[in-house]
Amino acid sequence: MSSLDDFSDILKVDEPLADYTWLKVGGPAQYLADPQSVEQLQSLVTRCHELDVPVRLLGGGSNLLVRDDGVSGVVIQLSAPCFSEISLEGTVVTASGGALLSNLISESVKAGLGGLEVLTGIPGTVGGALHGNAGGRGGDIGPLVKSVIVLTAKGEIFTRKEDELSFEYRKSSVNELVVLKAEFELQEVDTDELTQRIRKLWITKRSTQPLSHQSAGCIFKNPRGLSAGALIEQAGLKGTQVGGAEISDRHANFIVTNEKATADDVLRLIELIQTKVSDRFGVDLETEINIW
Ligand code: EPU
Repeated sequence: MSSLDDFSDILKVDEPLADYTWLKVGGPAQYLADPQSVEQLQSLVTRCHELDVPVRLLGGGSNLLVRDDGVSGVVIQLSAPCFSEISLEGTVVTASGGALLSNLISESVKAGLGGLEVLTGIPGTVGGALHGNAGGRGGDIGPLVKSVIVLTAKGEIFTRKEDELSFEYRKSSVNELVVLKAEFELQEVDTDELTQRIRKLWITKRSTQPLSHQSAGCIFKNPRGLSAGALIEQAGLKGTQVGGAEISDRHANFIVTNEKATADDVLRLIELIQTKVSDRFGVDLETEINIW
C-alpha cells in the first residue's frame, strides 16, 4: 500500500479499536486515519478507491461491534474540529456529520428550537444517527432533515435534498460513506418546555436502560409491532452470560460487557438470543448494531 505514504502523518498502523467503541472489545484497524480537513478526507477516500483498499467510517463507536480479528484497510475517524461544526440560522440548524448528536440537541434547545429533543440520550454522531435513522418512542431523526451533503466511497461530494431522501424504522437512504453536513428544519418552542421534555426522557431512560454499564444500546431492531427486549425477557434470557458479555437485567435488548469480554463473547450471545427467540416465538431478530 505504498501509495498511502502521502497520508502517513494522519495514519496509525494496527491501531486497536476497542477503546473507540462503547463495548470496548474487538481487534485493530490495519490503518486508522484522522484527516484534518474535508479536502484531505476526500483525497484519502479517492486514493483508497483507486487502490481498492476497503474504507470504513468510525462514528461515535456507540452502535458498533468490531470482531476480535479487527479489520483490514482504512478506518476513518472524524475528530478534527471541522467535522463537528454546528450553526443556526432562524429555525434551520446545520451540523457536520462528526458532531455529537447530544451537542446538536443541546445547541438547538438553547436556541429555543424543538424537534431534536426526542433523540435525547441517544449516543453517537449526527452522521451515524442519519445512517440508521436513529430514534426512540418519541420519533426519529429522519423527518427533521432538510438536506444532506455526502461523500461517497468513490470520493464524490454531492447534496441530497429532502425529497430525495427516505427514512424507515432504523433504516435510511443516507448510506454513502460519510455525511459531511446535514440541515434540519426545527420549530420554535419555549426553552423551558424543551428542558422539561428532556428531563422526563432522561428519567425514563435511566429507569429502563443500563446506562452505567458498557453497552452498544439496543442490539436488535424491534420486529414489526413487537419489542425485542420483551421477547428476549419472555424467553427467560435476562442475565444470561457468555464469557464477559451479559444480557442486561434492566433491559433485555442490551448486552453489557465487562473488562474480560471479547467480541466473540458478544457474537455468541447474539446468536444464542436469535436461536432461542426463533425457537420459542418463531421471530427472527435482526441486529441493529453494525458488526465489522
Ligand atoms: N420490555 C420488556 N423487557 C425488557 C425491555 C423492554 O418487557 O427487558 C418492554 C417494556 O416494558 C416496554 C416495551 O418492551 O413495554 C418497549 O420497551 P422500551 O420502551 O424500553 O423501548 P424499546 O422498544 O425496547 C426503543 C429503542 C431505544 C430507545 C427506546 C426509548 C429500538 C430497538 N430501541 O426501545 O433505542 O431508547 O425505544 O425511546 O428501537 C437503541 O436504538 O440503541 C435504543 C436503545
